[in-house]
Amino acid sequence: NCLATKAISTIRPAFTRGIHATTTSTAKVAVLGAAGGIGQPLSLLCKLSPEVDELSCYDIVGTPGVAADLSHIPSKSSTLGRLPSPVKWPMGPNEGLKETLEGADVVVIPAGVPRKPGMTRDDLFNTNASIVKTLVEGCAQFCPDAMIAVISNPVNSTVPIAAEVLKKAGVYNPKKLAGVTTLDVCRANTFVANSQGWDPKDVDVTVIGGHAGITILPLFSRVNGAKFTDEELEALTVRTQFGGDEVVAAKAGAGSATLSMAYAGFVFAENVLKALRGEEVTQCAFVESSLTEAPYFASPVKFGKNGVEEILPLGELSAYEKQWLDKMMPELKKQIQKGIDFVNK
Ligand code: NAD
Ligand code: LMR
Repeated sequence: NCLATKAISTIRPAFTRGIHATTTSTAKVAVLGAAGGIGQPLSLLCKLSPEVDELSCYDIVGTPGVAADLSHIPSKSSTLGRLPSPVKWPMGPNEGLKETLEGADVVVIPAGVPRKPGMTRDDLFNTNASIVKTLVEGCAQFCPDAMIAVISNPVNSTVPIAAEVLKKAGVYNPKKLAGVTTLDVCRANTFVANSQGWDPKDVDVTVIGGHAGITILPLFSRVNGAKFTDEELEALTVRTQFGGDEVVAAKAGAGSATLSMAYAGFVFAENVLKALRGEEVTQCAFVESSLTEAPYFASPVKFGKNGVEEILPLGELSAYEKQWLDKMMPELKKQIQKGIDFVNK
């Protein structure tokens, strides 16, 4: 039930943040890496969303142009575009990042380099680990209560990096940090619907584990009414696990999934905004978890006013799925530990 949202309240209560508590209900989204392949269409979707009142676009290049462009769209949100402030002596805070983040309810982070053919997501670690660390240090300083949604790869390591940074700053709240695995759910829904001749909007596959190769595990045994042979099940599972590679190969050196990821990142962020203002939303996310021996794990999570409200029990896996879970565990734990060590060593 990963993309399902259930409204339990149709009245929009005031946000309880700062001075807005009793007066207005403004929802602010910050996109870090907003001029990139994901960042631009993600910012566009946020600009179109009725859930967003303030949109802040931050990148090391291009955001004044992105924001000026978006600001001509007649939707209700204001649009801000900021670059890092020029380095001054003595160095003060990064005013551009500060303005972007202050008052943010949700921070979405697609900043970082994408894969080229032949690379694994882990090959991005050396570059993206530092980018995520720096940006999350900014979140710790300027919006410690915001929900942080990490898209930058390798997600299995960048989410633990974010957690360690927040811990060091004394502001870590496991309810307010998640890795975005929604694209895996989108792919699983699309592939299984195509295989059955269904409309993808009627399918909602649970995808658990992490976000890299065999650490991605779609639970197709739970899809009511689906019929496939063992070979078809294997093909669907592997295609979901390596859907990212399919796009990287097709883009032939020009990057990885951007449009489908922008859609998936937007679905995730909009669901979080709905939850923060009082709707109950369940969606898959990579969060700190005690469901398995891995300290972070993607599974269906209930979001509410405080962010992650409840990690739902995993329930029974089929024998086929259990095999994959056992196989992924050493790899997932290793990638998580690599992120933790990056901040602490
Ligand atoms: P891109 O190169 O098109 O865009 C990345 C943007 O990040 C660029 O505009 C760049 O200027 C910006 N950036 C770099 N360093 C920055 C910093 N310190 N502060 C702010 N911005 C900075 O790449 P993309 O295709 O948008 O992909 C971005 C990341 O998302 C990659 O790491 C990719 O692997 C990942 N990704 C994740 C998923 C997922 O499912 N979680 C899906 C697709 C891509
Ligand atoms: C994806 O799943 O498309 C992303 O993680 C990007 C990639 O490198 O595959």
